[in-house]
Amino acid sequence: MRAIAQPNIALIKYWGKRDTGQNLPAVGSISITLCDLYTGMDVDFDDQLAEDQLIVNGDAGGSMLPRLSACLDRVAGEDRARARIVSESNFPIAAGLASSASAFAAATVAAAAAAGKDLDVAELASLAGRASGSAARSLLGGFVELRNCDSGIEVGNLRTAAEWPLTVVIAITETGPKAVGSTEAMEISRKTSPFYSSWVEQQEHDLAAARSAIEKRDFGQLAAIAEHNCLKMHSIMWASRPPMVYWNAATMRCLQIVRKLQGAGIGVFFTIDAGPQVKAVCLPEHAEQVRSTLSSSDDVAAVMTSELGDAARLVESS
Ligand code: PMV
Repeated sequence: MRAIAQPNIALIKYWGKRDTGQNLPAVGSISITLCDLYTGMDVDFDDQLAEDQLIVNGDAGGSMLPRLSACLDRVAGEDRARARIVSESNFPIAAGLASSASAFAAATVAAAAAAGKDLDVAELASLAGRASGSAARSLLGGFVELRNCDSGIEVGNLRTAAEWPLTVVIAITETGPKAVGSTEAMEISRKTSPFYSSWVEQQEHDLAAARSAIEKRDFGQLAAIAEHNCLKMHSIMWASRPPMVYWNAATMRCLQIVRKLQGAGIGVFFTIDAGPQVKAVCLPEHAEQVRSTLSSSDDVAAVMTSELGDAARLVESS
C-alpha cells in the first residue's frame, strides 16, 4: 500500500514533551501543510520476510528503520508479518524540513491500509503522533491545530489551503543532517532551560492569537505571533545547557532579508524549526519577489517554493 504525505511547517511550535514514553507534546501547535514537497511511502507486509526492510530514496538501510518498525508494530500489532518499506522524498531529510512528519504520517496511513484497518483521523493522529510529534499534523491539509486532550492528542482543521492560499519559500542554508535530533533537544530544553516553563505557560495565548488571525485571514497578525513564537522557541534552546544553536550565518542573513522585504511592504514572515533552514511564509502575489531575493543571497544553497496542500492520502502503488 502506498501513501503520500507532505511535510508541515509549524507557525506555533511544539517544543517539549509532557510524556516521553507516549511521545505526547507539552503544548499544542498550529501548522500549515505544504503541497510541493512530499514523502511517498510503500508498506507491504510479507510472511516470507525474516525482518523489516527499508529502502530510502533508492538506498537500502537507513537510520529510520527502528522507528518505522515500532510505528508499524503500533499500527498493525506486534505479531504482524515483517514489512517491505520503500520511502521517497523530494527534499533533504533530517535537515529541519519536517521530513519525519511527512514520513511518519505516510507510514501510518500506508501501514493501516496494508493491515486492513479502517482507522479514523483521531486514531491515525494518535498513532502517527507516537512516532513523531509533528507527524499527526501532516494527516490534514491547510491550517491544522494539534491539541492536547484527555486521551492524548487530537488534530483539527482551522482552514483549508483553498480558503487562505499562502506560499512558503524555503531557503536551504545547509544540506547535512542536524547535529542534535529534536527529541533529545526537547528534553535538554525541558530539563535545563530557564525559559521552558514560561514557554509552556504562554503557549495558549500564542495559539489563541494565531487561531484568531487565521479565522480573520489577518496576515499581519499571523506574521507577528508566528515570528514571536519561533524566536521564543529558539531562545529556549540557546539558553539550554548545553546550548543548542541550529542557526548558521546564512540563517541570520535570511532573517535580515525578510525584515528588509517587510520594510518595503512585502507580505512575508519567517519561521525556523530545529535546523538552519528559513521558511518564509508569504502572500502569493509576493512569493516571486521573496524567492528571487532569498535566492540571490550568496550563502543560500537552494530555494524551494511550495503552496499549501492537502491531507495525507492513499495512492495507487507505483
Ligand atoms: O515532531 P518532531 O519530533 O520532529 O519535532 C518537531 C519540532 C519542531 O519542528 C521544531 C516544531 C514543530 O512544531 O514542528
